[in-house]
Amino acid sequence: MRKYIIAGNWKMNKTVAQSVELAKAVVEAAKGIKNTEVVIAPTFLATAKVADVVKGTNVKLAVQDVHFEDQGAFTGKVSVDMVKDLGVEYIILGHSEQRQYFGETDVSVNKKVKKTLAAGLKPIICIGETLAERQGGTLETVLRTQVTGAYAGLSEADALNTVIAYEPVWAIGTGVTASDEQAQDTQAFVRSTVKEIYGEKVSESITIQYGGSMKPDNAAGLLKQKDIDGGLIGGAALKADLFIAIVTAAEQSV
Ligand code: 13P
Repeated sequence: MRKYIIAGNWKMNKTVAQSVELAKAVVEAAKGIKNTEVVIAPTFLATAKVADVVKGTNVKLAVQDVHFEDQGAFTGKVSVDMVKDLGVEYIILGHSEQRQYFGETDVSVNKKVKKTLAAGLKPIICIGETLAERQGGTLETVLRTQVTGAYAGLSEADALNTVIAYEPVWAIGTGVTASDEQAQDTQAFVRSTVKEIYGEKVSESITIQYGGSMKPDNAAGLLKQKDIDGGLIGGAALKADLFIAIVTAAEQSV
């Protein structure tokens, strides 16, 4: 049975004080949640303070990116060991905003995934197509390339510690969500790609989240789909009540 994971990607939102406040509200609201992994990803700046809030609770901590080098002259970057030291357990990698605006490639994602796994942390590997790619008929090629790129050189044991987030770029922050069927069909394809590489045991074990305008009113439909095992939430993760409504929908789908 795959574990549902609902992760809030706070992106570049909230001051440190606001992050602490939101984290406290999420911790409070998530107290009764038993079967769903609840994860929050504040900015790097707020990570240490939010770590204090989630310590000893059932809410897990993530960051939104990391650099693949250990240390040194890499202005503006943060290493895996630095975030591990704070109690971070998940690292979101390859987000489409990183790919689109900050030069992230499948090669850099792969390096970051390897560093994350070597440190014993779990990467949430984001993949997804643009509208032009979907309409132009290259959806499967794009996703297969992203998956094979991210997993290049990873062992089966490594792969078992990864999470995939399928986030169609056209659904992110737009209010347009993939339909239940579109998301299910695409995520089944993603799982079949993992199966081609690692076989059924791994492909059936990996949690594949959906991301892109997931909200309380569409979460239940999406989360009931066979190959949708959670969500990576942007906008709706910035309000504790909306976020927890999605967590509750996941809990009820288990
Ligand atoms: P929205 O939920 O705001 O569409 O963002 C999704 C996302 O990009 C999460 O990583």
